[in-house]
Amino acid sequence: IVDRPLQVFHVDVEVKDINDNPPRFSVTEQKLSIPESRLLDSRFPLEGASDADVGENALLTYELSPNEYFVLDTINKKDKDKFPVLVLRKLLDREENPQLRLLLTATDGGKPEFTGSVSLLILVLDANDNAPIFDRPVYEVKMYENQVNQTLVIWLNASDSDEGINKEMMYSFSTLVPPTIRRKFWINERTGEIKVNDAIDFEDSNTYEIHVDVTDKGNPPMVGHCTVLVELLDENDNSPEVIVTSLSLPVKEDAQVGAVIALISVSDHDSGANGQVTCSLTPHVPFKLVSTYKNYYSLVLDSALDRERVSAYELVVTARDGGSPSLWATASVSVEVADVNDNAPTFTQSKYTVFVKENNPPGCHIFTVSAQDADAQENALVSYSLVERRVGERALSSYVSVHAESGKVYALQPLDHEELELLQFQVSARDAGVPPLGSNVTLQVFVLDENDNAPALLASPAGSAGGAVSELVLRSVGAGHIVAKVRAVDADSGYNAWLSYELQLAAVDTRIPFRVGLYTGEISTTRTLDEDDLPRQRLLVLVKDHGEPALTATATVLVSLVEGSQAPKASSRASAGLAPEVALVDVNVYLIIAICAVSSLLVLTLLLYTALRCSAEPTESACGQVKPTLMCSSAVGSWPYSQQRQQRCVLGRARPRPRPRPRPRQTSWPSAPAFHRAQW
Ligand SMILES: *[C@@H]1O[C@H](CO)[C@@H](O)[C@H](O)[C@H]1NC(C)=O
Ligand SMILES: *[C@@H]1O[C@H](CO)[C@@H](O)[C@H](O)[C@H]1NC(C)=O
Repeated sequence: IVDRPLQVFHVDVEVKDINDNPPRFSVTEQKLSIPESRLLDSRFPLEGASDADVGENALLTYELSPNEYFVLDTINKKDKDKFPVLVLRKLLDREENPQLRLLLTATDGGKPEFTGSVSLLILVLDANDNAPIFDRPVYEVKMYENQVNQTLVIWLNASDSDEGINKEMMYSFSTLVPPTIRRKFWINERTGEIKVNDAIDFEDSNTYEIHVDVTDKGNPPMVGHCTVLVELLDENDNSPEVIVTSLSLPVKEDAQVGAVIALISVSDHDSGANGQVTCSLTPHVPFKLVSTYKNYYSLVLDSALDRERVSAYELVVTARDGGSPSLWATASVSVEVADVNDNAPTFTQSKYTVFVKENNPPGCHIFTVSAQDADAQENALVSYSLVERRVGERALSSYVSVHAESGKVYALQPLDHEELELLQFQVSARDAGVPPLGSNVTLQVFVLDENDNAPALLASPAGSAGGAVSELVLRSVGAGHIVAKVRAVDADSGYNAWLSYELQLAAVDTRIPFRVGLYTGEISTTRTLDEDDLPRQRLLVLVKDHGEPALTATATVLVSLVEGSQAPKASSRASAGLAPEVALVDVNVYLIIAICAVSSLLVLTLLLYTALRCSAEPTESACGQVKPTLMCSSAVGSWPYSQQRQQRCVLGRARPRPRPRPRPRQTSWPSAPAFHRAQW
């Protein structure tokens, strides 16, 4: 402004710029997030710098710190300004370089130039470009069978180089895994633990191949694989099994040693020593096990059987494996021993003695034989029978019979002691086996005497009833003269045949000058006879045995007293009725001749025997002829009675002995006729 006049002048003042301002970035650090998956030549614009100066001083150029990934490009703006752009020259890899730090420098065109810089932080964003992986493609696991559920088999650890959700993994069984394995194992999706989920049995399957996938959660997901080989180890969890397969039972007691009775097979599902089975049998039995092939055995007979000793065996076959502890199984075999007819029926005694009273009722039971047979069933079914033979004229079976089943022995008819004192026979016992076995027992039946025979007077003529005998006696004989002898026999034996004689006095006639010997039967004078004695006297002699009750017989003796001058021989004989005297003489002569003949035959035989002895060739002919006669004389029952009686007539002076068995069985010799006459 100028005064007076006031004038106003305009003055333009131009301030000339000098480069006094550096380029400036609005921030000190620029952050860029770039996914690692960006393709090459991708462009990333950056915020440019500003310069307060003008003109040349504000003309900026940019420069990037050296790196291998990016180059710098610039874009001109309309206002002639330009801003920088990053261009990707090499693919990023987050796993290699998760972030990059670059420096962007802006330089102005002033002189001297100023620079400004900003730090670029490039964060490489993750892309799911890495699959999860396991450290090994195959894992081998060994474990024992029969593990409880939830036992850890393996803990799988996969790794994924990605991050975030791309690193999150899920474990699962591969689709290749069959359902059987899926049932038995369980995998924890998150942690990768594989656990036992069901019974795992070595005998079922001893290896498992489990394919495992691991998948991350990226988009698209990536998958890793591995295989787990589970090898199971055997445990001794199976007992052996014993099977008795074929039986040939029952075993006959005569079976051969070595005969196969049963086949036995053993098995064990375990393997190795756990499955190795040894077989054993109950000790102390007549059987043994013979191994025919691996795990096959035969039960064979080891020693002879005897059903009568042991009729059945209860065998136990024990199979034991080689595990530790070992397991075992048993099978029992009942071996029954079948009977064979190897035992004959036996009687407890070889000989039985039976006493039977004579005159038994017909069909009476006298004894029971009983034989035992150790066998069984029909082999022990004993039947009895009589061993037939002849008894004298008759068959044994007419005397006795044996009941086949009960063994009762019956007397079929009344036995007579006087006919048969001893009946000896055999009873045979026989079983029903095939072939049958038998044994014999001897029965001695003694027939006991009963007093069933009255004394019988000997040599009474058939005509003279009551046994009347006449005797002539000289009046001149003195005391003690034997006038006559009453002879009687009793067919019984023992006391029943022991006879005693007594005189029966008719009246109170004590004048009778005779008496009779109590046991001899001899009638003798008691005193010297005189004239007063009646010329004819009748004596009654009572003969009595000692049976219970006693039986009697009466003999009548007529005694005629004659004077000494009378020679009574012939007449007396006639009156005594001894007509057969001539016959007796004849018999005596024959006997003498016979004895002489026998004696000379004996001498001859002895001589012959000695001669043959010297020539060392013994002959039995002489002996053989003698024997039957000896036997005949001892066979009581078959001795014809009439013959004895005849002999007794002849036995003159043989004085009857006072013994309870007066049967005249002794050797006899002939007596002179004169003596004989005196008997009567
Ligand atoms: C996986 O990791 C767990 C825990 O660290 C470890 O116990 C296991 O042994 C690992 N598994 C393998 C196969 O290395
Ligand atoms: C039994 O006696 C009969 C006849 O004497 C004979 O044939 C048989 O052999 C005897 N039996 C025995 C076992 O002795």
